[in-house]
Amino acid sequence: MLRKIEEIKNECQARLSQVSTMEELNEFRIKTLGRKGEVTLLLRGLKDLSGEEKAKAGRVANELKQNLEQMLREKIEAFKRDELEQRLLQEKIDVTLPGLPRQRGRQHPLTQITREIQGIFIGMGFTVAEGPEIELDYYNFEALNVPRDHPARDMQDSFYISEELLLRTHTSPVQVRTMEQMAPQIPIKIIVPGKVYRKDDDATHSPMFHQVEGLVIGQRITFAHLKGTLVRFAHQVFGEDVTVRYRPSFFPFTEPSAEMDISCVMCQGEGCRVCSHTGWLEILGAGMVNPRVLQYGGYDPEEVTGFAFGMGIERIAMLKYGINDLRLFFENDKRFLAQF
Ligand code: PHE
Repeated sequence: MLRKIEEIKNECQARLSQVSTMEELNEFRIKTLGRKGEVTLLLRGLKDLSGEEKAKAGRVANELKQNLEQMLREKIEAFKRDELEQRLLQEKIDVTLPGLPRQRGRQHPLTQITREIQGIFIGMGFTVAEGPEIELDYYNFEALNVPRDHPARDMQDSFYISEELLLRTHTSPVQVRTMEQMAPQIPIKIIVPGKVYRKDDDATHSPMFHQVEGLVIGQRITFAHLKGTLVRFAHQVFGEDVTVRYRPSFFPFTEPSAEMDISCVMCQGEGCRVCSHTGWLEILGAGMVNPRVLQYGGYDPEEVTGFAFGMGIERIAMLKYGINDLRLFFENDKRFLAQF
């Protein structure tokens, strides 16, 4: 028996030294130590031996098993080391090569302008409010003194979701929403940036665009406050050189109403294509809050007055940066966006 074990041992060692790949090693392991492997069977056969021979053969056979296991482990380690060495020899990393350039992101020009406008009004003591883009007909029109079937609704071609629901056509509904929350407290001094929707689509109109609304409610608020606030705003966005004028206008929710123009930023008022040779650019609508709207919001028009204004953010950005097609803002062409 002992001789047989010795034979197996020698044979195993000889075979193991021939093994040169991981697969061969695995095969070898199965043939020797596997469930039906030579050594496994050998160990199992010991139980038929008797007494002293069993003990002795058992010891030697176990030694052989442990020996083989040890050698297998070493072989595996050696293979792994070789493989790593091979890889390191092949892989050539040149640390002097230039790195891969990283693409730096930036804010969309409309985000930049919105933040700038917000900053200007925050500097004058306003806070920022928001409202839903899917709006009730009530807030979008009704509570702004635009009753059903009123011709003033034609000013804003709308996307209706149902009789009562639509995509808001302006940020003005947040006026009444805020008044409802605040009444009867004064003052209210908010601006409302946000998306609005109209059935329009050309070089200067997009079905989705952005507005900033403004609302001030307090005691003895006058048109002078409106002018002072908006002139300050125009100077901060377009520079101290621009001049401002007001033209009478109409909005159902303000009375009196006005539109504010600034002197053309392209030609300084000389007259050019951008200002249609008038020297002036319209930038916003405004007016004193209509008493009816104050009532809808829960305020007593005998006690408080207010002013409101609304402007298109795309338009401000186009004038400030000299962009002639509004659709550029939404095409997401990096060559355009990277310029801001
Ligand atoms: N909501 C008006 C528009 O979208 C603008 C506006 C706001 C006018 C507030 C007056 C007061 O055209």
